[in-house]
Amino acid sequence: MLGPVLLAAARSEGIRRLVSAAPVTRPVVDRFVAGEHLDDAADAVRKLTGQGLQVTLDHLGEDITDPAEALRNRDAYLALADVLASEGLGMRAEMSVKLSAFGQALPGGHDLALANVAPVVEAAAAAGTAVTLDMEDHTTVDSTLAILSELRERFPQTGAVLQSYLFRTEDDCRALAGEGSRVRLVKGAYKEPATVAFQDKREVDRAYVRCLRILMSGQGYPMVGSHDPRMVAIAQELARQTGRKLDEYEFQMLYGIREAEQKRLVAEGHRMRVYIPYGTDWYGYFMRRLAERPANLAFFLRSLATR
Ligand code: FDA
Repeated sequence: MLGPVLLAAARSEGIRRLVSAAPVTRPVVDRFVAGEHLDDAADAVRKLTGQGLQVTLDHLGEDITDPAEALRNRDAYLALADVLASEGLGMRAEMSVKLSAFGQALPGGHDLALANVAPVVEAAAAAGTAVTLDMEDHTTVDSTLAILSELRERFPQTGAVLQSYLFRTEDDCRALAGEGSRVRLVKGAYKEPATVAFQDKREVDRAYVRCLRILMSGQGYPMVGSHDPRMVAIAQELARQTGRKLDEYEFQMLYGIREAEQKRLVAEGHRMRVYIPYGTDWYGYFMRRLAERPANLAFFLRSLATR
C-alpha cells in the first residue's frame, strides 16, 4: 500500500523540500548514496573495485526543468569520465545516466537529450568504458530506446535498462538480444498504470524470468539487476543451461543493498557491478528505495523518532 504513496511523493516538490530539509534524513540517505561530491564517488570506486567488485556511477539528477541544468549534468559526467580515465579501470567502472537529467522531458527533449548525452558517451569510450541508459517511466521508453539505437551506431557498447513490469518488455528484450547489446534487466521502480504494467509482484517476477530467459538465450551481454535471491539463482541456472561463461553476463546491485550477497557472488567468481549514486539531487532516488522496501521506511521513521 505504501509503495505507490511514496512513489507519488517522489515526484512532489513540496514533499521534496520537507524531506530534504529534515536534519535526520542525511544519515539514512548515506546508506544508499555515496556522497555529494565527485571525490566521494571516486573514494567509493576505489574501495569497491579494491574488493573485486565492478561499479557503475550515477551522477544524481532527473526531471530537470531548465536546459541549463542539462548542461550542468553533462559537465558533471564529463568530469566523472576524466576521473575514470585517470583511474584506468576500463569497463570495471562504467557510467549510468538518466536521460531526463539531459533534458528528455523538455520541449524538443528527444534531440536535446541525444545532443547532451552524446559527448558523455564519447568521453566514456575515450576513458575505455561505456554508458548505460537508465530507464525511467513508461512514457520515456520509446525515446530512450531510439536514442540508444542512435548512440550504438558509433558506440556499440552503450547499454540500456529494460523493466520487467512493463507488458512491452518481452518484445523489447527480443529486439535487444542481438550480438553486442548490453541490457540491464530490472523489475522496475516507477508508479505505472495497469494499462501498461503488471501490478502484482508475482507477475512482475514471472515476467522477469521470461525476459531473462530471452536475454540469456540471445547473443548479447545480460546484466542481471536484482537483489532478489530467487532471480539471482534463476539467472545462474539459465546461464548454465545456455552455456554462458562467467564473463558472458553479470550481476548488478545498488550501493548499500545486500552487500554480503555482492561479495559472496564475487567470491564465487561472478562479475558483480555495484550501482553507485552520488550528488546533491538524491531525493527521487532515495524515495524509490524507500518505496521498494517497507523496512527501509521503518528505518527512516525510527531515526526520526529517536531524535
Ligand atoms: P525485490 O524488490 O523483489 O526485492 C528482493 C529483495 O532484495 C528484498 O526482499 C530485499 O532483501 C532486497 N531489496 C530490494 N530492494 C531493496 C531496497 N531498496 N533496500 C533494501 N533491500 C532491498 N529501476 C528502474 O525502473 N530503472 C532503472 O534504470 C533501474 N536501474 C537499476 C540498476 C540496478 C543496478 C538495480 C539493482 C536496480 C535498478 N532499478 C531500476 C531498480 C529496480 O527496478 C527495482 O526497483 C529494485 O532493484 C528492487 O527490485 P529487486 O529486483 O531487487 O527485487
